[in-house]
Amino acid sequence: MADKEISQAVIGRLPRYFRYLGDLKEKGVERISSQELSDIMKVTASQIRQDFNNFGGFGQQGYGYNVNYLYDEISKILGIDKQHSLVIIGAGHLGKAIAGYTNFTRRGFVFKGAFDCNPELYGTKIRDVEVRPVDEMEDFVRKNQIEIAVLTIPKDQAVPMAHKLAECGIKAIWNFAHVDLEVPNNIQVENVHLSDSLMKLSYNINRYENT
Ligand code: NAI
Repeated sequence: MADKEISQAVIGRLPRYFRYLGDLKEKGVERISSQELSDIMKVTASQIRQDFNNFGGFGQQGYGYNVNYLYDEISKILGIDKQHSLVIIGAGHLGKAIAGYTNFTRRGFVFKGAFDCNPELYGTKIRDVEVRPVDEMEDFVRKNQIEIAVLTIPKDQAVPMAHKLAECGIKAIWNFAHVDLEVPNNIQVENVHLSDSLMKLSYNINRYENT
């Protein structure tokens, strides 16, 4: 656990910094000032400095930031400098799409298993991983020390499934079902609702049209 409690707002901004730094790295940029980063990312330089000060600052005043170093440090903070194993529960449209996205693997999230309750899906493959009966999930998670479960099942199934996952030692749930999950404190949950983002877009369409 970190020594100092960092706000979730700061943590929420780190992946974006990480993405931009990845692009800069690919372009061969070695150093960048907070002002230059601010111009590209459209956030204030003072916000960037404040965010980075939570982690000791990362850079020398006047010299700017070393892109490679900053990229590596943020990846360590985000814990993506190591691998995390994950399983998909619910091998339907969304489950298949997530499991099929190879870029998550590139980031260190290794897709190890897929489970469903529909016998027609048993034995079918997503990438090279076989869909198994959900009854085998608990054993599999324990034996393979799976860290993350991706929940892509209907919302009425998600709560009992989260309880089962808690019992078999899962560390985190990436929840796509439309329900707020209550789990013990030692399990991390991240709820993802694409529709929230779409509604925000809709709001902005309205606002633009009415100005
Ligand atoms: P889908 O019907 O294609 O897939 C759901 C799969 O879950 C099916 O294969 C079904 O057999 C399986 N399933 C149902 N109960 C299960 C259980 N107890 N254990 C194991 N497998 C079980 O549905 P789709 O489109 O993939 O959506 C999945 C879920 O994700 C739905 O709850 C949907 O509302 C939600 N969703 C959430 C989004 C978000 O942004 N959070 C976006 C799209 C869908």
